[in-house]
Amino acid sequence: MVISTQGRYTRTAIFLHWLILALLVAQYIVGWTMPHIGRDTPVTTLISLHFSIGVLILGVIVIRLIWRLIHGEPAPEAGVPPWQTRSARVSHWLLYLLLVVVPLLGWINASYRGMPITFFGLAHVPQLVATHDASWRWTGDIHTLIAEYGVLPLVGLHVAAALYHYFVRRDRVLQRMLPGV
Ligand code: HEM
Ligand code: HEM
Repeated sequence: MVISTQGRYTRTAIFLHWLILALLVAQYIVGWTMPHIGRDTPVTTLISLHFSIGVLILGVIVIRLIWRLIHGEPAPEAGVPPWQTRSARVSHWLLYLLLVVVPLLGWINASYRGMPITFFGLAHVPQLVATHDASWRWTGDIHTLIAEYGVLPLVGLHVAAALYHYFVRRDRVLQRMLPGV
């Protein structure tokens, strides 16, 4: 594990962290507004937008992970109990994992359904599995399940922890991830 000596994340890590938040907010709004995807559902603009934002999230997460592996994390904030540092680390890696798994499952499911996927209409995104290959039928349900009952509660816990540090412990954990503080 790499630990950087500064007490905060790098500017790039901070930018990518808040970019993911913005993209996720847009993605859930689009995901819950778009028509329910079933057999023979046409790929409307909103559905296409869901695919594009999802592929973008996957790309940004991969860049973030590479950045994280190279630059590490700041040394733990002084005075934070070790169990909190450990559980933060576990939940951060779990968030990274889910943010790779969820878009991949969505991409596989859209491929299985034979739906065209583009990157904001600018580039064609390749199909990951053969159309109607029944072994991938489950991916849609699990994509939605993890997106709604995995990512959201974990992000909720993550935000609660950040607010706990800021308002209750009154340490500088939140400031490590804020630009220019
Ligand atoms: C982090 C990124 C993503 C999140 C948070 C996300 C979230 C969601 C959510 C909440 C739904 C359920 C919508 C409903 O209630 O009907 C959904 C459905 C779906 N998403 Fe995503 N999505 C992501 C990425 C993607 C990507 C990259 C693709 C494809 C390229 C995709 C394809 C689909 C498909 C095909 C469905 C319908 C699944 C089914 O009901 O069988 N998603 N997504
Ligand atoms: C209002 C929303 C959010 C707040 C206030 C927040 C706050 C923070 C803070 C303070 C840290 C640094 C923790 C530390 O130094 O130990 C952090 C790290 C992190 N956050 Fe968030 N966050 C938010 C949303 C999100 C979202 C939506 C995601 C992704 C789903 C996310 C994923 C992560 C990850 C993976 C790290 C670890 C960074 C690393 O070590 O590479 N956060 N967040």
